[in-house]
Amino acid sequence: MRSGLFSRSAASAADFSHLEQASVTFSEVAKRYGDRPVLKGINLSVTPGEVVAILGPSGSGKSTLIRLINQLETLTSGDILIDGKSTRQLSRQALRQLRSRVGFVFQQFNLYSHLTARQNIALALKHVHGWRPAEAETRAEALLAQVGMAEKADHYPEALSGGQQQRVAIARALASSPQIILFDEPTSALDPEMIGEVLMVMKALAHSGITMIVVTHEMQFAREIADRVVFIDGGHILEEAPPEQFFQHPSHPRTRRFLQKVLNPLHPGAV
Ligand SMILES: Nc1ncnc2c1ncn2[C@@H]1O[C@H](COP(=O)(O)OP(=O)(O)O)[C@@H](O)[C@H]1O
Ligand SMILES: [Mg+2]
Repeated sequence: MRSGLFSRSAASAADFSHLEQASVTFSEVAKRYGDRPVLKGINLSVTPGEVVAILGPSGSGKSTLIRLINQLETLTSGDILIDGKSTRQLSRQALRQLRSRVGFVFQQFNLYSHLTARQNIALALKHVHGWRPAEAETRAEALLAQVGMAEKADHYPEALSGGQQQRVAIARALASSPQIILFDEPTSALDPEMIGEVLMVMKALAHSGITMIVVTHEMQFAREIADRVVFIDGGHILEEAPPEQFFQHPSHPRTRRFLQKVLNPLHPGAV
């Protein structure tokens, strides 16, 4: 009797079919790869609808941090709460639900090369979410229109520019109407003149209700669109602040050095 009650309450705690609050809370999160610690006791609360930019040097664990949220990597210790609920030891069904609530956009787009833009989006809807083909295709077209790619629905990835491929990948990440979306350096693989079109799509998404966590080197995005900037290095969050404060009055010496190098690369030693 007692075990029956216990399993029922455990199952209900792990229901991610809908998020009441699209919040993400890191609680003492640590991650090691083998013996190598990458994240050491991260505490971070992202509120529903917030746009958070994650900055930090290469190798500091930015990708790891956001990949842990939808369990593309496994935690070493600590917990990540989504909607206030633990995401440790989820059933397969709960993990599937979680991943439909949390979209992910990769640096390298990761589109299927043998599928058109429309098919890339419809595929996930059909196979993961059980939509009927005709409905999935209609929804795919609406999503392509949302990212300005309606005309390219029948194009294969190789016929699209990097910026266009990334816009299709964003549309795909939005297919399941996620309440949280994670971006891992979405413009880093793009030619400079294509960065703007992807940032514009992200800008349109920001503050629309969806919670956004964006790993980026685009300082303009962090500055103008993020509600908060988080700087990580050495496995720790060294600084988190609203963009104005972060860029104008960084408090940690490491943040100041980083910003100096990024904002003024020809004079990285100047103060
Ligand atoms: N799957 C993995 N196995 C082993 N080491 C990894 C793995 N992924 C990342 N790392 C290492 O963890 C550190 C942080 O990586 P990452 O999260 O990709 O950093 P960032 O995104 O900030 O560049 C790096 O030293 C990287 O080499
Ligand atoms: Mg990375």
